Amino acid sequence: MKAICWQGKKDIRCEEVPDPKIEDPKDAIIRVTSTCICGSDLHLMNGFVPTMCLGDVLGHEPMGEVVEVGAEARAKGLNVGDRVVVPFQMICGECEQCRKGNFSVCQTTNRNADLAKAFFGDTTAGLFGYSHITGGYAGGQAQYMRVPYAATTVIKVPKDGPDERYLFLSDILPTGWQAAAQAEVGPEDTVAVWGCGPVGQFAIQSSIVMGAKTVYAIDDVPERLAMAERLGAKPVDRSQVNVVQFLKEHTDGHGPEKCIDAVGIEAHGPNAVLGLIDKVQTALKLETERPVAFREAIMACKAAGTVSVPGVYGGLSNSIPLGAMMNKGLTLRTGQTHVKRYADDILRRIDEGQIDPTFVVTHTAPLGKAPEMYRKFRDKQDGCIKVVLKPGG
Ligand SMILES: NC(=O)c1ccc[n+]([C@@H]2O[C@H](COP(=O)([O-])OP(=O)(O)OC[C@H]3O[C@@H](n4cnc5c(N)ncnc54)[C@H](O)[C@@H]3O)[C@@H](O)[C@H]2O)c1
Ligand SMILES: [Zn+2]
Ligand SMILES: [Zn+2]
Repeated sequence: MKAICWQGKKDIRCEEVPDPKIEDPKDAIIRVTSTCICGSDLHLMNGFVPTMCLGDVLGHEPMGEVVEVGAEARAKGLNVGDRVVVPFQMICGECEQCRKGNFSVCQTTNRNADLAKAFFGDTTAGLFGYSHITGGYAGGQAQYMRVPYAATTVIKVPKDGPDERYLFLSDILPTGWQAAAQAEVGPEDTVAVWGCGPVGQFAIQSSIVMGAKTVYAIDDVPERLAMAERLGAKPVDRSQVNVVQFLKEHTDGHGPEKCIDAVGIEAHGPNAVLGLIDKVQTALKLETERPVAFREAIMACKAAGTVSVPGVYGGLSNSIPLGAMMNKGLTLRTGQTHVKRYADDILRRIDEGQIDPTFVVTHTAPLGKAPEMYRKFRDKQDGCIKVVLKPGG
């Protein structure tokens, strides 16, 4: 079958790889009908996430049709022909963390748990197409994919309607939702969202659904700011203003109660000189990331407020204003998203028409075009905000 493979930093290729097979009675095989490129994939492409191996199959935002089921998955109610979204994490449904709804840190599904413990101090769940720290599982930018722990992992969706209505349940829609939910956004709150990529867009949409008083959307890409404005946010072009100062001026000098960092490791700026300092430090391995948005979110946040971080970080950052964090009494909420914690609720809101996630798609292309689409998405060419790949052509 055809699959999108990581072949080194900035080298993404469409290749022929062996078809996946059932390897365990809990497995299912999915024929992928739609699959996306995520901002998280850019971190892999740009070499920010360690333990990638040549030939690793990428992708963690797929959906499709079940074409083969192992005996245990079938016994738990998964059947050939089911239409399913595959969340980016595998879950066992039985461990202590799964029972508490902390699915992205399932204790069972990461077959490289020891590696995760060495990096992070405890294990995460197994993730699709996302390095060997998270299990080294083949991803879903492919014609077919093997889904371990299939019956507990997948989200069954209705048979009708376009894929794009449900596809983003795999990751970015619950991720935006969790970002707002963890900040406990409500009608009293002014929210500021750094980053108007797909995750930022859904964090904005979720904050508005949760009743936020005002939402500021921060980025410097015009079409992304315009998309945020259409959702009801107030755009802040960070190339034109000092972001922290701007937010203070528009919130009686105190700052937004809820600040969401939907940028993560590869933030730019805040200006050419300060941006260079992080570039030099990452080049010298004095830090592994560029936490510009995170620093600004801490400084901008109103005292006793919450900084919520869906943006992905992988290692070590410098110059984090811990003094501001501590003395203002801020709450910090983070995490890979516990997709299934929110899936039923969001699915109901989609089916009732309260949430329409399809607005985020700007580009649809055959799977084979993925290398070109990765570049387009990374470089924000041609108004690219979200790419959906179609393995069926
Ligand atoms: N927590 C999770 O489970 C989870 C899930 C999916 C994605 N993510 C992460 O969320 C982040 C965003 O993902 P995405 O798909 O929207 O990516 P993206 O690359 O499309 O969007 C990032 C946006 O941030 C903007 N940006 C860069 N520097 C900035 C700054 N200093 N201030 C404000 N904006 C700035 C960019 O212009 C871009 O529009 C990534 O780090 C991704 O890995 C996390
Ligand atoms: Zn993703
Ligand atoms: Zn578990």
